[in-house]
Amino acid sequence: MIYFNSNTRLNFVDINLPNDQAQLQAYYKIRRSIFCEEQELFQESDFDDHDHAAIPIIAINHYLGSPDEVVGVVRIYEENKREWFGGRLGVVNGYRSFSNFICPHLFKGLEPTALYHKSIAAGLIYRAVSLANYLGCDKFSAHVQEQNVKLFERLHWKVIEGISLYGVQHYLMEADLEAYPATAIYTADPLKSEQALAQLPYVA
Ligand SMILES: CC(C)(COP(=O)(O)OP(=O)(O)OC[C@H]1O[C@@H](n2cnc3c(N)ncnc32)[C@H](O)[C@@H]1OP(=O)(O)O)[C@@H](O)C(=O)NCCC(=O)NCCS
Repeated sequence: MIYFNSNTRLNFVDINLPNDQAQLQAYYKIRRSIFCEEQELFQESDFDDHDHAAIPIIAINHYLGSPDEVVGVVRIYEENKREWFGGRLGVVNGYRSFSNFICPHLFKGLEPTALYHKSIAAGLIYRAVSLANYLGCDKFSAHVQEQNVKLFERLHWKVIEGISLYGVQHYLMEADLEAYPATAIYTADPLKSEQALAQLPYVA
């Protein structure tokens, strides 16, 4: 189902923290289906120690203003003080290469560039790094699979070094934080977003 480019402003993608257990379960389910079943990087589960403290971020397709389904995921965690890592970036197959969608609260009044509306992955990466920046970040890195290096380079990341992980070629990459101004997670009630962050860790 594809709902975007409508004039109603009721059909959009929101990129945010999971709002309830069902969305959190969907986040883990998508991770499992992409990283265990599709890519076979892990066998039973891709859950690891970072998940005890990581912040999960999801892209949710909205239909007529209501959340419909989770279509993308990413997680961030603070590896060392003010040094963050992102990972487990994934977009559900039918939503890959999806562009020019509406994402109402992604920039919170800032509109750095339309680059981040070019795909669900780009939106997730924007949200991940700008949230870490909001929480206090001097360095944001990720281990990026070879075929995705170009995507990250387009989004103001640079390669630091190559590294083999889970038997697959990856590249350690670093974001240019200037391209990701600090942006809190949006909810209609600012207190709620603080509460959401305070409820960490998010383990299903
Ligand atoms: C990588 C991924 C998150 C990109 O999501 P997206 O929203 O489609 O992002 P984009 O539309 O910007 O596409 C990024 C790249 O993936 C390619 N791509 C898009 N859909 C694809 C598909 N179904 N199959 C293979 N490649 C695809 C695009 O051509 C683009 O390549 P380019 O950078 O050389 O132009 C998504 O393809 C995915 O979930 N892949 C499996 C998991 C994965 O690789 N995670 C990232 C680990 S670093």
